[in-house]
This record gives sequence, C-alpha cells and structure tokens, in this order.
Amino acid sequence: MIRNAKVNDLAKLNILGNLVINNFDTTYDLKSYIKDDKYIVLVDEQKDIKAFLIILKNINNFELELIVVDKQYRRCGIASNLLTYFIDNYCQQKSEIYLEVAADNANAIKLYKKFNFEIINIRKKYYYNSDALIMKRVVE
Ligand SMILES: CC(C)(COP(=O)(O)OP(=O)(O)OC[C@H]1O[C@@H](n2cnc3c(N)ncnc32)[C@H](O)[C@@H]1OP(=O)(O)O)[C@@H](O)C(=O)NCCC(=O)NCCS
Repeated sequence: MIRNAKVNDLAKLNILGNLVINNFDTTYDLKSYIKDDKYIVLVDEQKDIKAFLIILKNINNFELELIVVDKQYRRCGIASNLLTYFIDNYCQQKSEIYLEVAADNANAIKLYKKFNFEIINIRKKYYYNSDALIMKRVVE
C-alpha cells in the first residue's frame, strides 16, 4: 500500500535513509517535509515501511529529491510503484519532473531511464567522486 508519510513514520524513515545516506536524519529535516505542503512524502508499506519517496513541489514543476527502497526488498518493483503512484496522483499532462543523480548510481539511472527521464545536464565533479546528472521528464 502506498500512502502519504506521517510524523509517526519518522523513526523508520530515518533508519531507512541512514542506510543509504550518511547522516540522513540530520541532513534531511523529514519532519518538516511531512508537515509542509510544498513536499510530497510517500511511503510503501505492507507490514512494515519498505520504501519512501520525497518530492518537492515547485511553482511550475516537481523535483524528485530522494527515493529509497530497503535493501532486502529491492528489484521487486517497489520504486517503480512509488513513481507510478506519484505520477498518476500528482502530475498532469505537461508536468515536468526534475531530479539529480550521481553519475555512478547505475541502478537509479536505469530506473529513471525506464521511466523516460532524460539527461539534460551534467554537473562535473558535483559529488566527492562523481559527476551529477540532471534528468527531466515531461509527463504526457
Ligand atoms: C534505485 C532504487 C530506488 C531502485 O529501487 P527498486 O525498488 O529496486 O527498483 P525497481 O524494482 O522498481 O526497478 C525498476 C527498474 O530500475 C532498474 N534497476 C533497479 N535496480 C537495479 C539493479 N540492481 N540492477 C539493474 N537495474 C536495476 C531496472 O531497470 C528496473 O527495471 P526491471 O526490473 O524491469 O529491469 C534502489 O536500488 C535504492 O533504494 N537505492 C539506494 C538509494 C538510491 O540510490 N536512490 C536513488 C537516488 S535518489
């Protein structure tokens, strides 16, 4: 089941986030994102929360900030389900979605390409040991 995140989910979301990003809980103020209308925070939950997606709503477009799937549940279509849910429920025709991803994050890039995101720019050496790709999709 996919639903909007609640403040009660914070502990689990921070555990998941910390598994993929150093100091996630102190870098991302998830509590304020959950309460703030400018953000969409979705979780995938069966018995437990297995994944989450953070989207920033700008005036004219969306920015995909982060998508994280618990390691043991990867490659089961969960990220795809979250992205599909977001597009179906929040986007309209011509909605633009932007994201930034490390050039060495091959799995995420494959996911985004599968969802018709295209590379529109490269930020050289943006990360410590990798370029950053800026990707965009226009919803049809
Ligand atoms: C990237 C990530 C979100 C993918 O989640 P997931 O639930 O495993 O993705 P899905 O099962 O929906 O896979 C969708 C597509 O992505 C690609 N993909 C995802 N994981 C892959 C892997 N390990 N190897 C190759 N392709 C992969 C494939 O094209 C896949 O489609 P397919 O199964 O039909 O071949 C997950 O690996 C993750 O949480 N990584 C750590 C956090 C991260 O890097 N987030 C992205 C940056 S914000």
